[in-house]
Amino acid sequence: MAQYKGKGIFLICILLFGLTQSIQAQNVINGKKIYETRCLVCHQADGGGVPNMNAPLDGSTNVVGNDIGRLVKIVKNGFKDKVELDGYYYSNDMTPNPDLSNAAIADVLSFIRTSWSNKASLVTLAQVNNANKGNQKKNSK
Ligand code: HEC
Repeated sequence: MAQYKGKGIFLICILLFGLTQSIQAQNVINGKKIYETRCLVCHQADGGGVPNMNAPLDGSTNVVGNDIGRLVKIVKNGFKDKVELDGYYYSNDMTPNPDLSNAAIADVLSFIRTSWSNKASLVTLAQVNNANKGNQKKNSK
């Protein structure tokens, strides 16, 4: 009997592992769909952007960096700061996405951080929720 119990726990562990893996994969698949409808037109299918016009996401130190709050803000509010990004400037204005839910933002950021040559961590819903709280505090000052 004890020997079956051990096997049962082992199987449950495998099941739970498989489940969390497929939930994570789902986030990235959903993120890819969002990318294709909202971002691809400027950042391109290969994430390479358009020289001098639209910043690349593939290989960007900011995209794979730790400042998730900055990435959330850019996706939500758009971006036209014309600051230097990895040594280059981009002339286009990025359009805002005020209608994207926090979960959708987590998905699309997870996609761009793990696609092409990028190998950074996935972004969780909790991280996006926190980032939005921070942004609201800053805005209400
Ligand atoms: C209309 C074109 C356009 C669309 C659509 C667009 N972007 Fe951008 N994106 C840009 C441009 C241009 C910049 C750089 C702006 C600047 O330097 O002022 C940029 C910058 C970024 C950056 C910062 C990169 C860095 O190295 O710091 C991220 C992240 C980003 N975009 C993600 C996205 C995501 C995700 C989407 C889809 C939800 C998206 N963009 C849709 C044009 C676009």
